Amino acid sequence: MRSRPQDKNTDFKMSSKAMARLMMGTCVLAAILFIFFLGSDTPSAAAQNQPIAFSHRLHGGRLKLDCQFCHFYASRSSSAGVPSVRHCMRCHDQVESKSPEVQKLREQWEKRESISWTRIYDLPDHVVFSHQKHVQAEVACAHCHGKVENMETVVRLQDEFTMGWCIQCHREKSASLECLSCHL
Ligand code: HEC
Ligand code: HEC
Ligand code: HEC
Ligand code: HEC
Ligand code: HEC
Repeated sequence: MRSRPQDKNTDFKMSSKAMARLMMGTCVLAAILFIFFLGSDTPSAAAQNQPIAFSHRLHGGRLKLDCQFCHFYASRSSSAGVPSVRHCMRCHDQVESKSPEVQKLREQWEKRESISWTRIYDLPDHVVFSHQKHVQAEVACAHCHGKVENMETVVRLQDEFTMGWCIQCHREKSASLECLSCHL
């Protein structure tokens, strides 16, 4: 918060004790706000509740794997999809095979079971969405999902998928505004 310039010139006097108390209060408030905003960027309890501690920061960020290397349906179908255990095992059959988290992956692999990842994004059923159309129109993943390559676990940074938000970009890019394009 910026202090208003005229505050400097007031002849309002304050004891140093009161001043210290005020400063203290301000610091505490700032700390609380800081933690609050920091909190919105760190994994929420729900997001950490994934069956395997998969990190986008590691795979997308550090290893620089392309988003569509794993979410390969994005360019071909309405949903981007989440990769299968088989896809992970291409590397993890060898890589980090002693890690407890990778052991969990192997167990699923051996049981031929898929992983029940907790969904982060989910539009109401009456809305139609297509990844393919947006990938074709070259709308970046980050435009809608934020910088996922910097996230340990995927979190919704803001509740942005309102109708107004979709419409605003559709208007700017001359995409469809027809009700029936987005609603069944
Ligand atoms: C090595 C494979 C891999 C790569 C690379 C990868 N992802 Fe993912 N992604 C996953 C897996 C597995 C999940 C499900 C678990 C989770 O939510 O973390 C997921 C989940 C997501 C979700 C949340 C889906 C939902 O609603 O539940 C989004 C959004 C996402 N990824 C976007 C991206 C973007 C953007 C990139 C590129 C920066 C990327 N991913 C790179 C494997 C990958
Ligand atoms: C292209 C190869 C590749 C693919 C595909 C891949 N990973 Fe990884 N993964 C790695 C590498 C390399 C590391 C270790 C990076 C490091 O720490 O240096 C790693 C680390 C991990 C770790 C952390 C291990 C530990 O305890 O430190 C987990 C958990 C993990 N991967 C899960 C997955 C899951 C789940 C998938 C599928 C959605 C997946 N990985 C797909 C290459 C891959
Ligand atoms: C125009 C906005 C937009 C763009 C661009 C976008 N997404 Fe999505 N994404 C969404 C919405 C909306 C959903 C929720 C869809 C639903 O509930 O039907 C979603 C859901 C997902 C999911 C969950 C599984 C699924 O398919 O529903 C993954 C994974 C994902 N996106 C990854 C990506 C990746 C990777 C890219 C870039 C190649 C990308 N998204 C680009 C808006 C977008
Ligand atoms: C950043 C811009 C942007 C955002 C945000 C966005 N869209 Fe789009 N959308 C586009 C563009 C560009 C196209 C492609 C238009 C074309 O091909 O003529 C498109 C196409 C579509 C189509 C296909 C329409 C058709 O008639 O083929 C649907 C459905 C759609 N968007 C739904 C949504 C929904 C639902 C949301 C919000 C969750 C959304 N879009 C958010 C830019 C955006
Ligand atoms: C570009 C995509 C798009 C277009 C075009 C669109 N909508 Fe929507 N609409 C959405 C999305 C996304 C939601 C869900 C918003 C949410 O969950 O907050 C929604 C929600 C709604 C709802 C439910 C509101 C609510 O509170 O849940 C109604 C009613 C609705 N739309 C009517 C319309 C009508 C009428 C038109 C045409 C004039 C239209 N929509 C055009 C994307 C679109």
